[in-house]
Amino acid sequence: MALPVIAAAGPGILLSGCSGPQSVLDPAGKEAGEIASLFWFLAVAAVVLWLLVMGLFVYVTRLKREPHSRNLAEVLIIGGGVVFPVVALAGLLAYALPMMPAHREPGSGLTVTVIGEQWWWRVTYQRDGEDEAIVSANEIRLPRGARTEIVLGANKVIHSFWVPALAGKLDMFPGRTTRMALEPTRSGIFRGQCAEFCGESHALMAFQTVVMEPDEFDAWLERESGDAQEPVSESARRGRDLFLAQGCGGCHAVRGTPARAKIGPDLTHVGGRKSLGAGILPVDTASLARWTQHAEGEKPGAKMPSYDKLSADELSDIAAYLEGLK
Ligand code: CUA
Repeated sequence: MALPVIAAAGPGILLSGCSGPQSVLDPAGKEAGEIASLFWFLAVAAVVLWLLVMGLFVYVTRLKREPHSRNLAEVLIIGGGVVFPVVALAGLLAYALPMMPAHREPGSGLTVTVIGEQWWWRVTYQRDGEDEAIVSANEIRLPRGARTEIVLGANKVIHSFWVPALAGKLDMFPGRTTRMALEPTRSGIFRGQCAEFCGESHALMAFQTVVMEPDEFDAWLERESGDAQEPVSESARRGRDLFLAQGCGGCHAVRGTPARAKIGPDLTHVGGRKSLGAGILPVDTASLARWTQHAEGEKPGAKMPSYDKLSADELSDIAAYLEGLK
């Protein structure tokens, strides 16, 4: 009973990995498209090789079981065991290697620097010819159809930057800069994930990559460069005062307020992001309150202290303030 169920469900489970916001087989970027083609080429080549080997196996074990001549045996061993693998692997290498330099070709006018922290992403946008970089965190936005240079670094430990739908992965090292470029071909939201074990919350170190139409992206970047919005509700105003009084500005920046620190993620536009806590929670008041109350409960090892001495009302005021920072 179990076997037919597994046989029926197996292909479905396998195929479910072929699409979605974090699939290398559902490319939304130039590099990812090339990598997906390479994968299918290699997969087909592997299947052909497997069929050849299985054919030989059936031939010698079923069709022609008597001893073979010494000549045929030598042809099989030297030809099939040495010459053929060398030629096939060299051919595959010659096909795949020339792809790599093109994946590092620099971008066109916009550089996004991403620094891996424990366990979040420090993100800055810099347009060529502009002095000020725009600081953000835990989310990357890119214009569709343009090539954006991605400069990668890390603080303290190694991480790896990977948005499977857009490109291959690249490691991030403390004290060393690595570079890649992303050229999205389709707008949408694509999930990225740290792909190098970096400590207890490695698996909880993700982010969303939002690919926007170029004019929407320009408008978004313009807003992102601005100061934080003033709180509009009474609760949010109390939340801002609490945020400052509790010393949140000792780690975080909210531009346009006295909070200017750079230890934790910049929160100037945290309410406009697609996720909270580096890809693990939605951005709503309940999650913001929960995170503020006990960040380590959501993300083991998180450096943010717990604010569990605050009352439920105080937490919801802070959450209302942060949620309003669009
Ligand atoms: Cu960062 Cu794993």
